[in-house]
Amino acid sequence: MTLVIGATGLLGTEICRRLASAGKPFRAMVRSTSDPAKKETLRRLGGKLVEGDLKERASLGRACAGTAAVITTATAILSQQQGDTFDSVDLRGQMQLIDAAGAAKVGHFVFVSVSGNLLKHGDNPLLAAKQAVENHLQQSGLTYTILRPTRFMEIWLSPHLGFDFVNAKATIYGSGENKISYISLHNVADLAVESVSNPAAQNAVLELGGPHAFNQFEVVRIFEEVSGRTFEKQFVSEEALKSRKTAATNSVERTFADLTLAVARDDTIDMRDTFKKFSVRPRSVSEYAKTVLST
Ligand SMILES: NC(=O)c1ccc[n+]([C@@H]2O[C@H](COP(=O)([O-])OP(=O)(O)OC[C@H]3O[C@@H](n4cnc5c(N)ncnc54)[C@H](OP(=O)(O)O)[C@@H]3O)[C@@H](O)[C@H]2O)c1
Repeated sequence: MTLVIGATGLLGTEICRRLASAGKPFRAMVRSTSDPAKKETLRRLGGKLVEGDLKERASLGRACAGTAAVITTATAILSQQQGDTFDSVDLRGQMQLIDAAGAAKVGHFVFVSVSGNLLKHGDNPLLAAKQAVENHLQQSGLTYTILRPTRFMEIWLSPHLGFDFVNAKATIYGSGENKISYISLHNVADLAVESVSNPAAQNAVLELGGPHAFNQFEVVRIFEEVSGRTFEKQFVSEEALKSRKTAATNSVERTFADLTLAVARDDTIDMRDTFKKFSVRPRSVSEYAKTVLST
């Protein structure tokens, strides 16, 4: 039995889909406040729903009891629920989940962090929490896998974050010349599930990217080729991004501003070795472009 924390989220639901299609039994931790439609999706996939909250230690003990593996993707970055903060969820909540998994003698713990480049050069409460939780997990005595994905293409190449492929408009952050190994969240889900059974993932920290690194202009060109349209580019300078961060009035704003500023820095990940050791089929930016432009 695998326990998925963050199961109603974008990545967590994809992880549950893969567990279901592989015929692997799973328990999905949800909250009383979680979207009912998302809970229904998890039920239809065959998941056993268990109620819990990273802020409530007792609920984590109940959720972990009898599970062989825990995969956690949860984050408060977009959460609207009362009491959810980076400190209460991404930091203390994840740490107490690790403690609960240790007490329940869970066999394998998979934690979704962020790329090492971001951890090294970023400066915001989410990244501080990710680093502290990684350290806590490595010292816990649990068999672990830390997944460090770079930018999800489904998020960072979407209209929501300024990449408006529907209207052929793209926001270029900074010079646009730096390269990023955009990864599909579908591949992160594949790797999270395979981590539990693949010996190469035991007690490992895996940097995760897509099959190619592209700068922002190259990404625009891919979308132009696939759509046959010329994209209008809007530029946001690095200075403007730094000012946004300075002007932030709370930790979520500050984190978003810092993560956006980091789009103007390199985040390339050489995946050749990982792709040899795992059975994942890498999804490319052009495949993503074809999918989103055809719907
Ligand atoms: N986006 C990127 O480019 C990127 C890159 C690298 C790494 N990541 C990491 O990928 C992970 C998954 O992201 P995502 O897009 O799937 O996030 P998401 O869609 O925002 O999902 C967040 C999940 O966390 C749950 N959650 C929040 N607070 C909770 C609490 N107090 N107790 C229990 N569950 C709680 C939410 O449950 P409810 O539905 O109940 O609110 C939801 O299931 C995150 O850890 C993120 O840092 C993302």
